[in-house]
Amino acid sequence: MSKPFFITTPLYYVNAPPHLGGAYTTLAADTIARYKRMMGFDVKLLSGTDEHGQKIEREAKRQGIAPQRLADSVADQYRDLWKRLGVEYDEFIRTTDAHHPTAVIELYSRAKANGFIYKGSYSGWYCVSCESYAPETDPDKPVPCPDCGRPTEWFSEESYFFKLSAFQDRLLEFYEKNPTFIRPETRRNEIASFVKGGLKDLSISRVTLKWGIPLPDDPAHVFYVWFDALTGYLSGIGLKSDDAKFAKYWPADIHLVGKDILRFHTVYWPAFLLAAGLEVPKTVFGHGWWLSKDAKMSKSRGNVVDPFVLNEVFGSELLRYYLLREMVFGQDCNFALEAIIQRYNSDLANDLGNLLSRTLAMISKYRAGRVPSPGEANGDAQVRELAARVLENYRNNFDDYNFSRGLENVWELISRVNKYIVENEPWAIAEKPNEAKKLDSVLFHAAESLRLIAALVAPVIPKTAQNLWEQLGLDGKVTSVRLTELHWSEELAGKTVRGGASLFPRLDAKEVFKKIDSLMEQAENKTEAPAAEAPVTKAGDLAAQITIDDFAKVDLRVATVLEAERVKGADKLLRLVVDLGFEKRQVLAGIASAYQPESLIGRKVVVVANLQPRKLRGLESNGMIVAASIGPGDKPVLVGFHEDVDNGARLK
Ligand code: MSP
Repeated sequence: MSKPFFITTPLYYVNAPPHLGGAYTTLAADTIARYKRMMGFDVKLLSGTDEHGQKIEREAKRQGIAPQRLADSVADQYRDLWKRLGVEYDEFIRTTDAHHPTAVIELYSRAKANGFIYKGSYSGWYCVSCESYAPETDPDKPVPCPDCGRPTEWFSEESYFFKLSAFQDRLLEFYEKNPTFIRPETRRNEIASFVKGGLKDLSISRVTLKWGIPLPDDPAHVFYVWFDALTGYLSGIGLKSDDAKFAKYWPADIHLVGKDILRFHTVYWPAFLLAAGLEVPKTVFGHGWWLSKDAKMSKSRGNVVDPFVLNEVFGSELLRYYLLREMVFGQDCNFALEAIIQRYNSDLANDLGNLLSRTLAMISKYRAGRVPSPGEANGDAQVRELAARVLENYRNNFDDYNFSRGLENVWELISRVNKYIVENEPWAIAEKPNEAKKLDSVLFHAAESLRLIAALVAPVIPKTAQNLWEQLGLDGKVTSVRLTELHWSEELAGKTVRGGASLFPRLDAKEVFKKIDSLMEQAENKTEAPAAEAPVTKAGDLAAQITIDDFAKVDLRVATVLEAERVKGADKLLRLVVDLGFEKRQVLAGIASAYQPESLIGRKVVVVANLQPRKLRGLESNGMIVAASIGPGDKPVLVGFHEDVDNGARLK
């Protein structure tokens, strides 16, 4: 019986179309799932959508459609994208699926029966974008969201609470006893110090929100969206709908998430589960972010984080390879189209593509298409030894979710074999009959290395791997290889290679950019059309009128960014030092998702200069940077000037 392995992606919000970040998390999850299947596990990969809550309700209202219609359309887009990207998920849970509320109610009822739910009233500042509560509760002092820096909204209403405060010690003890629960390790320390700082009880119901699951014992309330969505990991694997499946696969082996939502998964989630007497997942891995370079990119290029467009231009195989090879799992990474082309031309076309085409061409030309048995050539033993080492290192790295290192290991072998071929000069020895054994060996070693390589790259680039497999003359599916048993062998000897079309035709950067620009234009035109029917700025969305005197109270100034760095523990915040001409000061800005700190140095920005100082994450922010907020994802775009403007100049 194979061991079960249950892996999940986050359940994505349906207020906006799928984004590159979500595609990345899901591709990483799919890669792990494929790897584990090839390691002999009985794998379930769960993905899905998070469809309730304020954020969705508002976006549906803005578009003038029912929330369910918005959810249906975006959930379909997610499923379509996963198919295009070659994601083989086993389960897809939507929080509007008929069997989902039963699981939410089960979790709630168990926690309640165990004494962890009580009724009270909630007053505080809430961030609709993060669907999370700010810790401050003074109604006269609006606070920005501690995570993203956006303005929060005041809520005051009756609410049911979850006794999160009762879990502070249990959680700390749990982290201590389960050192691989939160990964990477740096994130574990951050979460532990957050918990040590004290946990307040959590409001888990809302009466002013309609778009949600009603509480069973007080249906005027609906569940707080995170309580609802996290439970998707249980309903998605059968809690209250398929007991046998649930018993087999829960607890999850790994929840894969971006670092932005690690706190919900490693503080709230285990507390909910412990309160309900359910097992806690084994690992939550918070990976880093893809950052788009800087504002200097052309509009259309800067926007090319649309995964549908990327997939259409580059194809799923290249996109998968680039994303998994480029990002060190756990760290942030810059997203650049040039780097995708570079990876293709060097790693795929040049290294792997050349190795395959020259090997097959020589086997066809010198041995009538049949792989010979090995003889003896210079460097045979080193190639075999390296192959054994690579197999081991690759497995260690993939077991540790370190895909970029694992792929580096494979490319070490590819480079070595390319070099080995050149060193043995097969084209020269082919002329000499007494060197036949040597030539046999070169051809065999190259082909056998390619067999191993095909199996090793299969979790990341499955179509390419299968193609390689078939071109080498092998039958069946490369995915039926058991990686635990994969080793150097002579099974290829005597097989007839098939050859085939070149795996990686050249990619021309100019052509690629042209295609992207035209696709982005089409996509923009498509999204603009419905907006005409449902204007973005309805009168109802405008803030209340003010007088010119009110406006004069806001002192907007031009400044230059002198320093910029990330704020530890706050993924969306940057700490900037700006020069206002008459003084330099520190300002915190929630723009880290769109700007690399180094790209901002020397840039002109607009600052609200007379805003009361406030503290965010223990740092004082003296003013606010002005940015537009675009798209349903509220991407921040800094305000700028076409002419040169002196620091300190006032905007009137
Ligand atoms: N609905 C919640 C998750 C609930 S899980 C029970 C949510 N959804 S989301 O649509 O906003 O997706 C967030 C996830 O998208 C992140 O955790 C991460 O997996 C991925 N990413 C979004 N932007 C990203 C980058 N720029 N880079 C990498 N991944 C990021 O939060």
